[in-house]
Parts: sequence; C-alpha cells; structure tokens
Amino acid sequence: MTTTPLAYQATAVAARATDLSKVYGQGETQVVALDRVSVDFRQGEFTAIMGPSGSGKSTLMHCVAGLDSFSSGSARIGDTELSTLKDKQLTKLRRDKIGFIFQAFNLLPTLTALENITLPMDIAGRKPDQQWLNRIIDLIGLSGRLGHRPTQLSGGQQQRVAVARALASQPEIIFGDEPTGNLDSRSGAEVLGFLRNSVRELGQTVVMVTHDPAAASYADRVIFLADGRIVDEMLDPTADGVLDRMKAFDAKGRTS
Ligand SMILES: Nc1ncnc2c1ncn2[C@@H]1O[C@H](COP(=O)(O)OP(=O)(O)OP(=O)(O)O)[C@@H](O)[C@H]1O
Ligand SMILES: [Mg+2]
Repeated sequence: MTTTPLAYQATAVAARATDLSKVYGQGETQVVALDRVSVDFRQGEFTAIMGPSGSGKSTLMHCVAGLDSFSSGSARIGDTELSTLKDKQLTKLRRDKIGFIFQAFNLLPTLTALENITLPMDIAGRKPDQQWLNRIIDLIGLSGRLGHRPTQLSGGQQQRVAVARALASQPEIIFGDEPTGNLDSRSGAEVLGFLRNSVRELGQTVVMVTHDPAAASYADRVIFLADGRIVDEMLDPTADGVLDRMKAFDAKGRTS
C-alpha cells in the first residue's frame, strides 16, 4: 500500500463543481437555477449550503450527486466526471459512492431498523462490513431498537436510521437536503450531532442543505447561494454568525 502525503490528504476532494450551470425551460420561461458555480467539497469536511428559497441549493446538490443533469460545466464525484456517464453508470455510481438523506426519512415501513440500514447494500449484493456496521449502530445509539419498525420509532430515531443507512456502505460523500427539516429542535440536534460525529470519528464527507442557522453551525463551513451563485462562505460557523450574515444579505437585497 502506498501512503499519501498529508498535504495531499488534507486537500483531497470528494466532489467538485466547476462552472456548473443549470437552466430550466426556454425563452421567456427560462430559469437559470445555477449560474457557473464552482465549489469543492473536501474529504472529511462537513459543508452546509444555505440561501433563500429558490436560490439553487437543491439543484446544486442534485447535479453534483448525479440525480439531475446539468446544462454546462463539470461535476465530479472523486475523479469521475458525471457528464460522461450513461444512466446505468450514474445509477451504479450513486449506489456505490453516494449516501442520501432526505427530509422525509424514506424508510420502508415493513422492514426493521436494521433491515432498512442494510437494504441498499442488500440490493447491491454487497455484504456489509460487520465491524463498520457495529460502529455505526453504536454511534447512533439505537442498538436496543434495531428490531423495531419505523412506525415504532420517533421522528428523530427514524432519521438516525436513515443516516445510518447512508453511512453503512462507507460512501465517498453523503448529501442531505434539509435532513432535519421535519424534526423538532431536540431530535434535529440529535441527528446533527450524529452527522457531526460521523465526520469527526469516521472521516465521512457530508454536504447538507439547510435553512436553519443552528443546523448550519454543526458544519465546518457554510456556503451561501443567491440567484444560482455562490455569494459567500463562512468557516467554523456559529448560529449567530450565520444569522447575521443572512440578515446582511436580506438588507442588501432590499436596497439593490
Ligand atoms: N423542474 C424545474 N423546472 C423549472 N424550474 C425549476 C425546476 N426545479 C427548480 N426550478 C427553479 O430553479 C430555481 C432553483 O430551485 P431549487 O429547488 O434549487 O431552489 P432551493 O434553493 O432548493 O429552494 P428551497 O429552499 O425552496 O428548497 C428556482 O427558481 C426554481 O423555481
Ligand atoms: Mg430545495
């Protein structure tokens, strides 16, 4: 095995958008959802994407995660350029390299928590690494509830199962679109703490879209979108700092 120099490891990129544009519709109804966005999501980093409704947060996430096509520019997962892939290859890449957590937990009601966690790997015909699985189950603190079905779990517990499912296959990157949007603040904090730990303790890379400054404060950095462009970035964010930055954008928006 070759060892990678530390300097390289520190900057290794899990996903990258370069001059990424996405245009919906044509002529008068044309909407530029993404306008030449360039951004790196580095390995082992937790990034929050914020911005007003309609600013392009979900579109950016979907294009970089291979869930949606884009109009021009480039999007990569690791070394793989997504625009060169056919549908089948994209499906395989999503399955093998990406974990998803959505607002609606998307658990299968007839399966137990544990069966839900291992389902994507079962479908892919891959055996979960038992040690890794145990670590994740430890981390989410649901070991007593693995035999429960989703309806027997609280919203926060269900979302922790969804996070465990995303982590189980050791994906290169996890994308979440408002993963705590449906949770009360306490359950939301539980899930965010767990995501935070997965970055710190497992070296997971996480990209999360959120409206909530408190949720964004769990990230290592926040990027701010407006009208399909990245307009600002904040490192080691605090909830108050993010809130102030959002207020400043609002004030600017009203005067321009
Ligand atoms: N399928 C579509 N067809 C046409 N326009 C679309 C489509 N999907 C999104 N848009 C437009 O693209 C822009 C960006 O949408 P996007 O869903 O990425 O915003 P968002 O930042 O995620 O907003 P929200 O916070 O409300 O979820 C919006 O103007 C939206 O109306
Ligand atoms: Mg959205």
